[in-house]
Amino acid sequence: MQSTRQQSWVGRIFAAWSGFYDHPLLQQLYYRPVHRRLLRQLNAAPRRSVRVLDAGCGTGQVLADLAGPERQLLGLDLSREMLQHAQDRVPGARLLQGDCQRLPLADASVDLVLNTLSFHWYPQPLAALSEFLRVLRPGGQLLLAGVASSLMGFRGFRSAFKRVVRGGVKLSTAQHLAEKMGKVGFTQVHHERVHVGTWVFSGRRPGGDT
Ligand SMILES: C[S@@+](CC[C@H](N)C(=O)[O-])C[C@H]1O[C@@H](n2cnc3c(N)ncnc32)[C@H](O)[C@@H]1O
Repeated sequence: MQSTRQQSWVGRIFAAWSGFYDHPLLQQLYYRPVHRRLLRQLNAAPRRSVRVLDAGCGTGQVLADLAGPERQLLGLDLSREMLQHAQDRVPGARLLQGDCQRLPLADASVDLVLNTLSFHWYPQPLAALSEFLRVLRPGGQLLLAGVASSLMGFRGFRSAFKRVVRGGVKLSTAQHLAEKMGKVGFTQVHHERVHVGTWVFSGRRPGGDT
């Protein structure tokens, strides 16, 4: 199955990448600014976010930002090697190896789903969005930092990216990604650009308390 083949290819990339993913220069130039912008949205409107899933958590940078006695942190990632770093960084978090397109979690079992800079690696983006919706409680929130683009410049951006990363990396415009969130059932969907080619998307599962 193409999806399985691609997943093992993605797993190999991140097994290799895990050794230098936390390099301070890389983190300071790109990842941490994106994380901060995403968390700013969370802090601007603090809500009951006790059970937090970081889907595609990598080395646990965002989980570490959120650590505190009031939160139950759950991290999930395809790559065992990335999770080993997360284990060291956030010993209090529960970590699972798994696929965001088939979350091994019960319906309505978390208050907040975070997904940072991971989404474009999924062969079936709609399946992942549906899974995020399913595991959120009614009223729960998804905050997703995604590599996307505005319509202008999209073609150039996509072909440049594909030259660097071969295979089935899925890139869409920011507008299309927001539409996909609406299509699977998220409400209050909005998005904003936070870094070069990078957007934060927010949406809620309908119903319940926000
Ligand atoms: C660029 S890293 C981002 C890690 C972390 N979210 C961050 O912002 O620092 C992308 C992560 O997505 C994970 N990933 C890719 N495809 C996945 C999938 N289908 N399910 C779960 N994790 C996946 C990779 O293993 C990798 O750890």
